Amino acid sequence: MTHWSDCQRKKGLSLSFVPTMGFLHQGHLSLIKEGLGHADKLVVSIFVNPTQFGPGEDFDTYPRDLERDFNLLRTIGVDAVFTPDQSDFYPQGFDTFINQEKLPQHLCGMSRTGHFKGMMTIVAKLFNVVNPDVAVFGEKDFQQLAIIRRMVKDLNFNIRIIGHPIVREADGLAMSSRNSRLTPDQRKTALCLISALEKAQNSLQNKEYRAAVLIREAEAFICSHPDTGIDYIKICDPDTLNDMTEIDRPALMAMAVNFGAIRLIDNMLLNPNK
Ligand code: PAJ
Repeated sequence: MTHWSDCQRKKGLSLSFVPTMGFLHQGHLSLIKEGLGHADKLVVSIFVNPTQFGPGEDFDTYPRDLERDFNLLRTIGVDAVFTPDQSDFYPQGFDTFINQEKLPQHLCGMSRTGHFKGMMTIVAKLFNVVNPDVAVFGEKDFQQLAIIRRMVKDLNFNIRIIGHPIVREADGLAMSSRNSRLTPDQRKTALCLISALEKAQNSLQNKEYRAAVLIREAEAFICSHPDTGIDYIKICDPDTLNDMTEIDRPALMAMAVNFGAIRLIDNMLLNPNK
């Protein structure tokens, strides 16, 4: 991968990069299309990174289908697909991880201990090997994007980070590789995520500015659906991810909810001036 990347650079070509864990969907493809517009060549990586999954999480059952992914990527003009081998990337004795103090303490970091440490470590490794000029990340994983932006600044990676809006199914469910594991009933129920976010935006438009009230409404709404378990629902500052009490400026509403054993996340920027 590094050799290929060096060759492109020697030819004076710029590189954009989209890291993924595969089982690609239109959300990934939309990031890739965005990436294609920002540089001469585009690299996609596919690697289900074991260090960002905690014990008891879905590393083993995470959907994988490389053949299908390759076929999809062939249709949209990707220049290289990087699929590192687990034992190459984490050889015996691997012992160095990246840490960040503040942003990982919020939202998903509260229940997924070590997740962001593993995520930052793999992204830094991929950045070093691929050596891109630009990298594209989705706002679906809003906290991940914020953490990567911070890491890139703090550790002097010379890479421009581009955030891409959430891509949704026609009925509003945010696309996710994990959606493929939902039963038909869970798939219907999962629409409560986008509905809860839209309800909050409506309440805000009706001048309900108290975050606690909006959160309580969303909790009650989601709990009224069968087979749901709320991990968190938060309204926070989009830059610091600190909780907000009064929505007097744009605020991030973010949630993680279990549908049976499948944990889905979603978010929306709530705007009081809309
Ligand atoms: P993965 O979940 O495969 O997502 C890869 C990229 O696609 C991430 O930047 C994610 O935010 C983006 N993405 C996923 N679903 C999206 C949607 N519906 N709309 C817009 N963007 C979407 O995120 C990871 O992999 C991993 O943590 C990774 C960064 C690859 C490190 O292992």
